[in-house]
Amino acid sequence: MKIDILTIFPEYFSSPLAHGIIRRAIEAGLVQITPWDLREFTHDRHRTTDDRPYGGGEGMVMVPGPIFEALEHLGVDEAGTTSSKVIYLSPRGRPFSQEMAVQLVQHEHLVILCGRYEGVDQRIIDHLVDLEISIGDYVLSGGEPAAMVVVDAVVRLIPGALGCESSAEHDSFSNGLLEHPHYTRPRDFRGWKVPEPLLSGDHKRIEEWRRRESLRITLERRPDLLATAVLSTEDLRILDELRDSKGHDSTDREQE
Ligand code: ADE
Repeated sequence: MKIDILTIFPEYFSSPLAHGIIRRAIEAGLVQITPWDLREFTHDRHRTTDDRPYGGGEGMVMVPGPIFEALEHLGVDEAGTTSSKVIYLSPRGRPFSQEMAVQLVQHEHLVILCGRYEGVDQRIIDHLVDLEISIGDYVLSGGEPAAMVVVDAVVRLIPGALGCESSAEHDSFSNGLLEHPHYTRPRDFRGWKVPEPLLSGDHKRIEEWRRRESLRITLERRPDLLATAVLSTEDLRILDELRDSKGHDSTDREQE
């Protein structure tokens, strides 16, 4: 897989690409990630990448020329005409999700455009961008951190990128629920104990405990996810029980 990132701050990506799973995936040749400096595609003395908005108003807009030339350099033509997927990060985009990451990892070539200031000239979005993505309902000072979020979520899904192939399957969201909590040694840390079922060695009990915790946390924090998660009759029974006990348990922390 190839990922090209268009930005006016290519150095921004040096550290995140040089650590952990992403670094390993790059070293293993599973992915090639290149940050491109948009200023390299300018032709004026000041290497201008932004200008004032038509119609007036606050802020600056990124000019289309350098972005167009960078895309041309990468062999990208009008949206939808090449196999490359061009993504633009902005708070106006479609909400990013695990499902979207699963779809994006199927593409051989992603181009991620990072905006700064008030964003990029709309004609770039209309004619060259395939997908506009937001990573959440808040405004960042540029698309770079959002691009890194998308790159991370996608790269860890490339087959072979995670040390243990099965880890991504158990992640939060991958089965429609939030993941259960994890514990490691020691069993008793300053009087805080590991839940007993996890120490039992009884795999069925452990799985039941984990499923219940996953359902409990999802019910408490993201009940909206329950509407689309695949749930068994036993899950539904547990959820009813959790709802009942929640209603009666005044010591429940989430209710205080
Ligand atoms: N650029 C600025 N804010 C953003 C957000 N929330 N998501 C994606 N890109 C952004």
